[in-house]
Amino acid sequence: MKILSIETSCDETGVSIIEGMEHNITVCGNALASQVDIHEKYGGVFPALAKRAHGEKIITLLAEALDQAGMLHVETSPISDDLKKEIFECCKHEGILAQKIIEFVETHGVPTVEYIAVTSGPGLEPALWVGINTAKALSIAWNIALIPINHMEGHVLVSLMQEVAEKKYSLLSLTPPALALLVSGGHTELVLIHDYARYEKIGHTRDDAVGEAFDKVARMLGLPYPGGPAISNLAAQFRKTKHENQYIFPRPMMHSGDYDFSYSGIKTAVLYKIKEMPEISQDQKMAIAAAFEDAAIEVLVAKTLRAISHYHIAMLIVGGGVAGNTYLRAQLIHAVQNQFPQVTVLFPQRWLATDNSVMIAIAAYTRAIKGAIESQPLESIKADGNLSITDGGYRK
Ligand code: KG4
Ligand code: ZN
Repeated sequence: MKILSIETSCDETGVSIIEGMEHNITVCGNALASQVDIHEKYGGVFPALAKRAHGEKIITLLAEALDQAGMLHVETSPISDDLKKEIFECCKHEGILAQKIIEFVETHGVPTVEYIAVTSGPGLEPALWVGINTAKALSIAWNIALIPINHMEGHVLVSLMQEVAEKKYSLLSLTPPALALLVSGGHTELVLIHDYARYEKIGHTRDDAVGEAFDKVARMLGLPYPGGPAISNLAAQFRKTKHENQYIFPRPMMHSGDYDFSYSGIKTAVLYKIKEMPEISQDQKMAIAAAFEDAAIEVLVAKTLRAISHYHIAMLIVGGGVAGNTYLRAQLIHAVQNQFPQVTVLFPQRWLATDNSVMIAIAAYTRAIKGAIESQPLESIKADGNLSITDGGYRK
């Protein structure tokens, strides 16, 4: 089964094609464009600019992904005026995108994919709509069923991919009761997974997400956006040479007795510390980055361990951009192996930790093989910026 997927929820535009045969996955095509340089000067994602950049790049990425998959066939394939009208109607808020899509489909053959999958939320709604409307237009033009996918479910399920060879993966089976630690720029959540698509949120951040805190602290230290990798690199340099840190930041809600998080307090503590300092040397930056990362990660690890114990977890899945953090990986794997050696710990492949469209295809494929795809009218597929992972259970 082949699936074409589109992701535009935030600041990465992605188009992928995967082929699945039972548990074997081939990533046939994957084209990803980052908008980091566009948003860098704002220190965060600017929705109107994100929308524009997605619209500018998406058809080029579609062609690139199809080409990699050997599915880009140049041929004249005119479509009817009625179909053109429908495409214009569904992309009426996307500027010249409808025209670009029509030009593309009229000059290329229909790819042999069973489904088109697209992120419908959560994320920035103007950005999400670009992907959704492109996917709807392609679904209409090619007569291929469209599946809306929850971005966070993508982050969870992509961690089940184990690399076996270049572009070839084996999709592990979920072992319930599983626990997902979802850590990204917009989310910090602990989610129980009772079965495929049966999610129960047990904790979440009450203010900032952990990735957002990394980004904000990076900005305070004059480091580039996104801040996660920059902070993490400085912190690693500090730990290589020093053992004692003069800075210590709070661990909010560490002993709150629940599974909620709070990251705005750590960020404010860093801000006050920096304000006290007339200037900051490179060594001090490294020490502050390490102290911040220590605090941020310690709370994640402590709450995750508590949930593993309380819910008798068999499999821990970490997902989202912050899952790419080397220190989190090391600390969590070490602690779980020590305290719960029977628990399988899964992190995403590094290139699949931050936003990408392969994860959207994997979530769609999982639904397809579970027989959980329901045909739904295109009009009912909408962007939902606040979509929760608990919203989209399979109807059995
Ligand atoms: O999942 P993602 O790509 O986008 C969202 O859905 O939010 O996550 C992006 C977030 C950013 O806040 C970024 O700073 C953070 O993930 N991030 C990291 C690392 N790589 C990315 N945070 C800590 N350490 C990293 N290595
Ligand atoms: Zn994400």
